[in-house]
Amino acid sequence: MTDAIGYERVGDIAVLKAQNPPVNALGLDVRQGLVDGIERAESEGAKAVLIYGDGRTYFAGADIREFGKPPQGPFLPDVCTRIESSPLLVISALHGTALGGGLEIALGSHYRIAVPSARIGLPEVLIGVMPGAGGTQRLPRLIGIDASVDVITSGRQVGAKEALSLGILDRVEEGEPREIGLAYAQELLDQGAPRRAISEMPAPESVDFDALYDSVLKKGRGLLAPAVAIRGIQACCELPFDEGMKRERELFMELMSTDQRQGMIHAFFSERAVSKLPELKGVEPRALNSLGVIGGGTMGAGIATAALLAGLPVVMLEMTAEAAEAAKGRIAGNLQGALKRGKISQEKFDHLTGEALTLATDYDALSDVDLVIEAVFEEMGVKKEVFGKLDAVCKKGAILASNTSYLDVNEIAASTSRPEDVIGLHFFSPAHVMKLLEIVVADKTALDVVATGFELGKRLKKISVRAGVCDGFIGNRILATYRKAADHMVLDGASPYQIDKALTDFGFAMGPFAVADLAGLDIGWAVRKRKRAEGMDPRERDSSYMDKICEAGNFGQKTGKGYYVYEAGKRGGTPNPEVAELIEAERAEKGITPKEFTDEEIVTRYMAAMVNEAAKVVGEGIARRPLDVDMTLLFGYGFPRYRGGPLKWADMQGLDTLLANIKSYAEEDDYFWQPAPLLEQLVAEGRTFDDLNKENS
Ligand code: NAI
Repeated sequence: MTDAIGYERVGDIAVLKAQNPPVNALGLDVRQGLVDGIERAESEGAKAVLIYGDGRTYFAGADIREFGKPPQGPFLPDVCTRIESSPLLVISALHGTALGGGLEIALGSHYRIAVPSARIGLPEVLIGVMPGAGGTQRLPRLIGIDASVDVITSGRQVGAKEALSLGILDRVEEGEPREIGLAYAQELLDQGAPRRAISEMPAPESVDFDALYDSVLKKGRGLLAPAVAIRGIQACCELPFDEGMKRERELFMELMSTDQRQGMIHAFFSERAVSKLPELKGVEPRALNSLGVIGGGTMGAGIATAALLAGLPVVMLEMTAEAAEAAKGRIAGNLQGALKRGKISQEKFDHLTGEALTLATDYDALSDVDLVIEAVFEEMGVKKEVFGKLDAVCKKGAILASNTSYLDVNEIAASTSRPEDVIGLHFFSPAHVMKLLEIVVADKTALDVVATGFELGKRLKKISVRAGVCDGFIGNRILATYRKAADHMVLDGASPYQIDKALTDFGFAMGPFAVADLAGLDIGWAVRKRKRAEGMDPRERDSSYMDKICEAGNFGQKTGKGYYVYEAGKRGGTPNPEVAELIEAERAEKGITPKEFTDEEIVTRYMAAMVNEAAKVVGEGIARRPLDVDMTLLFGYGFPRYRGGPLKWADMQGLDTLLANIKSYAEEDDYFWQPAPLLEQLVAEGRTFDDLNKENS
């Protein structure tokens, strides 16, 4: 027997204890140990077997260290079947997280007991695959189609109480897993309870699985894994158990070989890698027990909401008492959402909008906070004035942060006497919902200030990405470029609606023009006006058709009209006919003969612009690694997770093809399409963005 599974006899019960820290992952030794343990229990005449995990959890899932390596037997599906087919009574006692293969082992057992804090689930779809050890064959037999579809296609973690009511667990009890498991096993033996193999239970009646497949695919915006898992559930309903298991394996293997799985795995690991920076190793963050927020508009109120929900008291400073009250109203509005969804109690709501939130108009109120985030108007003059005042009142060591979208954090820092304490903390709207936080490190920012930025991100449950200073940092800088590529395509013949549709078909949450309507067209208008005033390079293409829409006071969703027309009470909008007319007029004025674009060409150009700018951002050191760009686009810009991020996508497409495309576009417009030196270098050396990730991890 391997050491990964301990064996002990307590009367008639053989006890198998998983001891593969930290999470009892189902590596080879554990799988072999389980088979050996069951065999020993049978040969030694035990009447029941109890399986539980030592340390903090039951089997938490597959062993991620085995990912990508050739699999070695005994394989997990066989282990589950071996456990289930034992003539002894097999009981699993669950604590911690029984996920994926862990839950499948539990489903191979005849009875399941858990502690109240245990969580179970089948999260395989979250890494682009599906349960592959009987999950889709046993769960529907146990809890029916609807509940299995929910658990399997969402990949969500289910608490013990809910799992009990769904029928996944037989009992929930306080105590140590070994003790409650032993007592339950003895009770079952005393009652003469039967072996209860799920594979021998009748399967649910089949339903219209084609319709279910389509609806799950649509809901996932093209994500295959949950839809393919539906086919597994279908096999459970329509095939005998053994054949269903074979079908499940086939479907699983099909998913294993997809680009989507590669994208999802990349996202899974990169999401964890972004906040691991070598220079922060051993650097202690500064104290972080209270927060100041300046400006309680859209962003300030969202940031304050996130902080309050994370247990940080907030001082909210506004220009006037009325503005401060309005900010409080916005925060309360945000928190109402959490209250309605049952995330917080009324009492907690009262506390967060009461004692935990201090309103102020005088900077003295900020003299004692550990970190201040400024979210006032996007104007350098206003920002500098605010930072000057903060410099005067904040205590020594307090961190002074700006939520600026584009402005130079070095210049902001220079307006204080303590630039080492200044950092950019760039949140995304709505700040209490969106997961991304760009941590913008300026030239003089101290390391422990950076570490505190990441600590704040962790507390607010954000995905924090380190960015350097440039116009728009990582995300908005890349956005500006791919957005321009879309604008050029409109001038050349595509419609904004075709572009939006091509990109949502690609998997984006929204197309760029729908996004512009949501963010407010006034932002882009202001940028265009500023750039024209500053003097644009004569080679740069400008477009003005949307100016006329803005001049008439239409700024997108908030005014009911932009690229689309929005009717009250309806979701989404319909194309605004005025836009098409204005585009045509501008093409005529510029002497452009519109050409047809295929959806494929739209995606290719849009993505080429995105990847090219992303390569510049990495090449210039604004983003540390390609994966930092990938996570920025995934968590802040609606990039489809199953494609991994723009640079993972680029690797899978082939960088040489991409560069060749860019060079061919440059023949029409060599100002916009200047190939990124890093992209040229990688192609010349035959390397990929992922090689860079590996070299820098
Ligand atoms: P907003 O206009 O909704 O809110 C700004 C608030 O700041 C207003 O409530 C105003 O009363 C207050 N304010 C202005 N000057 C002040 C001062 N001197 N002292 C105290 N309060 C002052 O603007 P929004 O959208 O919240 O943007 C704020 C900052 O966040 C800007 O720098 C913006 O670029 C940045 N940002 C905006 C995002 C967005 O999607 N709206 C996303 C990420 C960053």
